[in-house]
Amino acid sequence: SKSTTMTQSTPTTTTDVDNPAHPLYRHRRTVVDFEYGPVLGEGSYSTVLVGKDKKTGKHYAVKKLDKAHIVKNDKVKYVMIERDALSKMNHPGIVRLYWTFKDNRSLYYVLDLARNGELYTYIRRLAPFDMNTAQFYAAEILLAIEHIHSRGVIHRDIKPENILLDDNLHIKITDFGSAKIIPPDSASKKSDDSEDGNAGRSRSFVGTAEYVSPELLRSEPTLQEADLWALGCVIYQMHAGRSPFKAATDYLIFQKIKNRDLAFPEDFPEVAKDIVEKLLVLEPSARLGSEATGGIEALKQHPYFEGVDWETVWESQAPPLK
Ligand code: ADE
Repeated sequence: SKSTTMTQSTPTTTTDVDNPAHPLYRHRRTVVDFEYGPVLGEGSYSTVLVGKDKKTGKHYAVKKLDKAHIVKNDKVKYVMIERDALSKMNHPGIVRLYWTFKDNRSLYYVLDLARNGELYTYIRRLAPFDMNTAQFYAAEILLAIEHIHSRGVIHRDIKPENILLDDNLHIKITDFGSAKIIPPDSASKKSDDSEDGNAGRSRSFVGTAEYVSPELLRSEPTLQEADLWALGCVIYQMHAGRSPFKAATDYLIFQKIKNRDLAFPEDFPEVAKDIVEKLLVLEPSARLGSEATGGIEALKQHPYFEGVDWETVWESQAPPLK
């Protein structure tokens, strides 16, 4: 067995690139290193602004979080989870977190700038997407989800508002404020869910009701499969122009989800209907792409994805969105 003498592992998040001697050393950044531009979006606890790095001229999206507001509303834990989850990600389909810093009032997260905004806007404008376009975005979202899960994270708030588009119309998934980080040693993932069973306080209700998985509404622990449910909702939405479980109130939306009250428009493509029906399955372990059904690999084999070259999706030309 390994000797543990002398070599103390530092309990920090220090990585090689934090070492000035490392060839890829990234200089620390702070508030004054950026020029701030227009507001890109506003949430309950945060504002996202364009930030230009004065040293390099490169543009970023800077998420500015109000400390007092976060503390007062008991959201500290979620702000930390967002940072920790984003730090684990290294994928073209997910916004990268470059630096974090703070001043007296705020925390700042410096992220990839996705200049073309939300997939939501394009669905509103252009849906139903043609088969090729919907397939392309579904494939990119699936690959991003696969990466998120491979890093031990469940996003839990996949929806078109959180799927951003970069200069080349490829996706960047954002907003890990609802994420769950699976403890690395949890052989049984079902064990640690103090927060999930607690429906009253469960923050997963903060987001849009329409994408909530049925297991969450049954107060069961959320597993990776919740993100596959959300993928089913997004695929439906790209083809139908609206989310699958729409209703006048959150209560009625929850009823529809729990009962899987699902109907398709007449012109909905057959192969899309088939994959959506296999993703929007009440029982998470029976959902296509669940560990029990063969994992995400099995989902990639569905005829909906016929012709997708999974190896070259990120280098490929995105379909024209107009
Ligand atoms: N709005 C929120 N986050 C964003 C980002 N990373 N890029 C562009 N707009 C955003």
